Amino acid sequence: MMQSTTAEADAAKLKTALKDIPLPVARPVLVVISGLPGTGKSYFSKKLAGRWPFLIVESDALRRVLFRLPSFSAEESLRLFAAIHLLVKDYLAQRISIIMDATNLLERHREILYSIAERQGAKLIVVRVKAPEELVRQRLEAREQGLDRESHSGADWTVYEKMKPTAERIKGWHFVADSSGDVAPIVEKVLKELNRR
Ligand SMILES: Nc1ncnc2c1ncn2[C@@H]1O[C@H](COP(=O)(O)OP(=O)(O)OP(=O)(O)O)[C@@H](O)[C@H]1O
Ligand SMILES: [Mg+2]
Repeated sequence: MMQSTTAEADAAKLKTALKDIPLPVARPVLVVISGLPGTGKSYFSKKLAGRWPFLIVESDALRRVLFRLPSFSAEESLRLFAAIHLLVKDYLAQRISIIMDATNLLERHREILYSIAERQGAKLIVVRVKAPEELVRQRLEAREQGLDRESHSGADWTVYEKMKPTAERIKGWHFVADSSGDVAPIVEKVLKELNRR
């Protein structure tokens, strides 16, 4: 099938961009991050990965690997996530733990990740990252002015406002990290959950 060939080639290309792949473990973990732009998903992901061997799969960074000048169109996202899903499945099959750092606002998008984790026998953790709107606006403005050099995301306040009404409540059990405060206690809670198996 033409489509799967493309996804496989794309996934292979994305893999070449991923560095510092952690060692396999007995039972891999998939952490699904969810949150609006600028709420602190990438920040939280890095804090967590600093405490546990995770490969961070950051959709915005990988988008730029596949598309030099991203358009953020529906077609582009479809192709990107088809490749990301293959990649996540492959790494979990190799028993490598993953943090999926993407907005993941729709339940049906999260469910694809849940079922990949289940099929690979991975432990699933869901974390919703949030922050007060005024803080997010300040952060996204700073990013626009180029003050946030670490960011791979092009999302601005307009994107935030557009995405906000589309966000769906997370149905299952999940952690909530408010990035206006110290996220370290939530990182510790997640670690406690990971150690409890
Ligand atoms: N807990 C925190 N304490 C201090 N600064 C934070 C915290 N969380 C996030 N930030 C800062 O806020 C900005 C936005 O955070 P981040 O890039 O993690 O958001 P994001 O959710 O990944 O956004 P996007 O969806 O656009 O990728 C960054 O400059 C980041 O360093
Ligand atoms: Mg980010």
